Amino acid sequence: MKTYNIGIIGYGGFGKFLHHWWSRLEGIKVTAVSDRSLKDESSQEFRIYCHWQDLLENPQIDIVSIATPPALHVEIACEAMRAGKHVLLEKPVALDTAGADKILRTQRETGKVILVDHMLRYNPLLSTLVQLSKQKTFGELRHAMVTNYAQDESLPPDHWFWDKSLSGGIFIEHGVHFFDIINALTDQEVIEVRGVSHSRNTGQQDQVSATVLYNNGLIANHYHSFSGPGFFEETKITLMYDLPKIELTGWIPMKGTIRLLSDEAFSNTLGMFPGLRIQTVEDIAEAGDISRPEGWGETPISSTSGIKAAGISYQVSKFVSAGFEIADTKSSVYGQCLQSILKDLVAKVEDPDFQPAVSFEDAYLSLKIAEEAGR
Ligand SMILES: NC(=O)c1ccc[n+]([C@@H]2O[C@H](COP(=O)([O-])OP(=O)(O)OC[C@H]3O[C@@H](n4cnc5c(N)ncnc54)[C@H](O)[C@@H]3O)[C@@H](O)[C@H]2O)c1
Repeated sequence: MKTYNIGIIGYGGFGKFLHHWWSRLEGIKVTAVSDRSLKDESSQEFRIYCHWQDLLENPQIDIVSIATPPALHVEIACEAMRAGKHVLLEKPVALDTAGADKILRTQRETGKVILVDHMLRYNPLLSTLVQLSKQKTFGELRHAMVTNYAQDESLPPDHWFWDKSLSGGIFIEHGVHFFDIINALTDQEVIEVRGVSHSRNTGQQDQVSATVLYNNGLIANHYHSFSGPGFFEETKITLMYDLPKIELTGWIPMKGTIRLLSDEAFSNTLGMFPGLRIQTVEDIAEAGDISRPEGWGETPISSTSGIKAAGISYQVSKFVSAGFEIADTKSSVYGQCLQSILKDLVAKVEDPDFQPAVSFEDAYLSLKIAEEAGR
């Protein structure tokens, strides 16, 4: 089995995190890093470069991971592919779709593999939901709501995050993760995007919100703020399908709840969720429909007639409430997602027909939505 040599460009917080998790993978060796804050240094096993151009000249490196601030992504990704390297690029692809187009052109000219680190796609809860959504087990997804209250205590005013010419702003720097996740949960196409934002001063845009309309009626609301104390940091994704309502908690989703209308075979579906705890199982005729108050007249629901959502009939007999939770630490789940996308990249290098869980085109689409939301 071949060992792939990796060079990480941008060795800040995230570059070090990547190194930590990739160093535990078989067939992978991080042999070089580059950061403008470091001095050139070399041992037989490991090299440090101040200039990323020098790392690209190292013929031993097969794959370059780019974890610099976003403004550098296009130039480094294009140069890396021209230097014969495959690329695992941190999100966002670029500051705008014009930059992403340049990368796409260079990829086509060089034939190198490039993936973008939308690592949330590999989260076990989200990948289960993607699979069930594709099978239409839950009926249609009608509404998605992402609320992300992030702290800004570790983001001083001079951090590159606030400088739109370096980060692209919140929709592009952070929102792309969640635009991509909602895209992955539906086969509908985006037809309209509207966004609003607030800046606390000329340099710090700290709250953004976007509404994305899809062609079969899915509406997704995204809200991100970087303006609160760490005590209130919270990310929630609420998904309203025809048959279940699902709530996921955590920026790296670790747990959630589901209230599901189902036929008798609900345990087949729910069994796919890790750490499942079924709380209640009711016959729908007995559970009643709380939208109809007592005395309203006869409800048409019975165990045999099923229910209707947006005019579609579903034969269901049970109303099930359950919770689920990944039995692992957040950092381990995060780290395994980073390992998975690198393994997908290697699989694509070895077999061009391999389909990774998230493609460059997926990353491009989430950037396009972010760009439109910010217009
Ligand atoms: N996929 C994820 O889950 C995830 C999570 C966090 C960050 N990120 C992405 O990773 C990237 C880096 O984020 P971070 O939080 O590590 O930022 P950071 O500021 O901690 O690190 C960036 C590093 O890049 C270095 N750098 C800047 N210009 C350089 C240059 N010309 N040559 C070499 N190095 C240079 C800086 O010195 C710094 O060490 C961003 O694109 C961010 O969006 C992704």
